[in-house]
Amino acid sequence: MHINELIEKKKHGQDLSSEEIHYWIQGYLKGDIKDYQVSALLMAIYFQGLNEKETYDLTNELLHSGDTVDLSSIQGIKVDKHSTGGVGDTTSLVLGPLVAAAGCPFAKMSGRGLGHTGGTLDKLEAIQGLSVDLSVQDFIKQVNEIGLAIAGQTANITPGDKKLYSLRDATQTVDNISLIAASILSKKIAIGSDALILDVKVGDGAFMKTKEEAEKLSTALVKLGKAFNRNVMALITSMEEPLGQAVGNLIEVQEAIRVLMGQGPQDLEDLCLNLGAKVLVLAKKFDQEDQALEALKETIKNGQALAKFNEMIKAQGAQIDAQGLLDQDLSPLLGQVTAQEDGYLASLHALTIGEAARRLGAGRLSMEDVIDPGAGIYLVKKIGQKVTKGETILELYGKDSSEIQEIIQDIQAGITYSKDPVQAPTLILHEVR
Ligand code: URA
Ligand code: CA
Repeated sequence: MHINELIEKKKHGQDLSSEEIHYWIQGYLKGDIKDYQVSALLMAIYFQGLNEKETYDLTNELLHSGDTVDLSSIQGIKVDKHSTGGVGDTTSLVLGPLVAAAGCPFAKMSGRGLGHTGGTLDKLEAIQGLSVDLSVQDFIKQVNEIGLAIAGQTANITPGDKKLYSLRDATQTVDNISLIAASILSKKIAIGSDALILDVKVGDGAFMKTKEEAEKLSTALVKLGKAFNRNVMALITSMEEPLGQAVGNLIEVQEAIRVLMGQGPQDLEDLCLNLGAKVLVLAKKFDQEDQALEALKETIKNGQALAKFNEMIKAQGAQIDAQGLLDQDLSPLLGQVTAQEDGYLASLHALTIGEAARRLGAGRLSMEDVIDPGAGIYLVKKIGQKVTKGETILELYGKDSSEIQEIIQDIQAGITYSKDPVQAPTLILHEVR
């Protein structure tokens, strides 16, 4: 077998066998197959696609390229969640405590943010003293003891995906449904939860820009998950504007706490309750979604969800609790984006706001960049709300004011107004099972 034969086959639209995909990933990891050869193969795949079996085989190879985490020593049906990435997507910080408070173990290994999308680990690290670097043993122990852990991926999970993803990122071959599905699912299957809910974001702030693409990705992910015997479903949700009112790290932790106290923004609360209710039914904790929904709402009312959040951060080393976090100051207010007209907010460009948060210090362009936990954006107004000229729409927090005028102008350029009332975007668009 030679890699050039595989490139030639795929170039002409032929299928790769399981053995060929094994040879490719193993050879690439060992260094026998070079970046330039895999780049050519990836581009051929970009144009010719992978069929279902090839996608399964690739996922399987990536999954077995490193360690897998066996969660079978955790009692109960373990649940996990994955989002394809958005702006101000505070969901995991809320969903974990909610679901755990309702009695289902939540075991999530998460990633860091890159570009305009934030990462749950960076948000958690805004909490003084908290560590996301749990060993597999400590991760399992914590889920067993308190029903909840959100940690970083231990070093050797799916190294094949890490290497392949870097190359895809450098060769414009990220945006292929099969490659994305194999990449995401390999990481999720490597960590053995029983039920998995996928939040597939669609809109200008997301990977998937159209509903059709989101639908295709969701279908591919759900099929793949089932092929690996996972109880899996996907929810397609809107990312036309940031989720909730906070974009950043500490600011999103504070937002999550408010939702857990029943005082958070409606869209974020709705999404978390919906994802939670569906995953609790998926995990067979409840028969009906409306029962699950009531149980989740009850954990907010009776304080159990907030207590779970406090238990989790304490178990992971936090020297502060939810109330302390709410009292903590953000970085200085550097500027505000104000309404240029009277009317209703018609659009807020999520991608631009995500980029702006990154430029304020809340995110990174390369993995080496250091994050300012107190940097971020607060959305005083969202799409559909009425504004008068001069009124504040967004507040910008950070430490470095050198680019602030350009950041404000860029955000302004993404905002449109309407004289007529505007509907807030529908958040939950579709579910795929
Ligand atoms: N997220 C992933 O983990 N992998 C992809 O390929 C795209 C998004
Ligand atoms: Ca948010």
